[in-house]
Amino acid sequence: MLMLTQTASIEKNISLLRYPGGKQRYVCHFSHLLPLEPQSIRTYVEPFLGGGSVFFHVNPEKAILADINRELIDLYLGIRKNPDVVWELYSRYPANKAGYYKIRSLNRDDLHLLERAARTLYLNRTCFKGMWRHNNNGEFNVGYGGQERRWVIGPDDLCAVAQRLQHAVLLCCDFEETIASCREGDFLYLDPPYRPGEREQLHAHYMFGEFNFEDHKRLASCLREATERGVQWVMTNSSHPDILALYDDYSMYRLDRGTGSSPGQITTDPGEMVIYHVNEVSS
Ligand SMILES: C[S@@+](CC[C@H](N)C(=O)[O-])C[C@H]1O[C@@H](n2cnc3c(N)ncnc32)[C@H](O)[C@@H]1O
Repeated sequence: MLMLTQTASIEKNISLLRYPGGKQRYVCHFSHLLPLEPQSIRTYVEPFLGGGSVFFHVNPEKAILADINRELIDLYLGIRKNPDVVWELYSRYPANKAGYYKIRSLNRDDLHLLERAARTLYLNRTCFKGMWRHNNNGEFNVGYGGQERRWVIGPDDLCAVAQRLQHAVLLCCDFEETIASCREGDFLYLDPPYRPGEREQLHAHYMFGEFNFEDHKRLASCLREATERGVQWVMTNSSHPDILALYDDYSMYRLDRGTGSSPGQITTDPGEMVIYHVNEVSS
């Protein structure tokens, strides 16, 4: 494995992935609720992993990380297995639009794990705005975005991620299964897709946006049961009144400031809440 240098992503606090809804720039607004002392919890669990920015921030000793997106989980599994080879493959992919569509058209089933990981990283880094969207056949169908964000990451970043994942269990499954496995002493951080807007609901091909209000009700009920088992949790969610009504007996506060779409750009009232059930708040 390549030697790590101080410029690796974790130290620079750069996410490996471009992730719509990623919490990298918001985590400072709820980090006082997170178990930053590794001994304070049994297992750290994230059922909606995405770009994993909160997991990397907490850096727990023991973690269960899950997401319903198979490509995403394969990406992490591949990087953990051999970050050098994934980087090597990633570096060799083409640097133009035609090449992007060629790589996008590859059939995942014909690729081995490390190739799948490199391809997903490449598509994420060069597609339009880092979106994840699939057609009805489950094929990634986001258009070309350019090469500007491709070399923001380097081989050290992949090695840093691989190192952080060494003791994590990575699962591809629905959140219900992940939450049901939590026991007393476990800590959950949850960042579900927010209530989809009308536009997303109209587009049946927006696979990972298909998280409807029934899913939110299911999530609230899973969390209620987990709370009864002695699980602590923190969730970021939309401030939509229908969502808040599901958690009206829990503690919550509004994120009144957040970083906008460009680094350094502050947005007031990003429309997000932090909802939580933790035993002790150390501030
Ligand atoms: C808002 S993103 C998480 C972003 C992450 N916190 C970050 O900072 O990058 C939500 C994630 O939930 C996943 N997801 C959607 N539906 C799911 C389900 N039913 N079970 C588990 N994960 C799901 C999506 O694939 C997506 O990665």
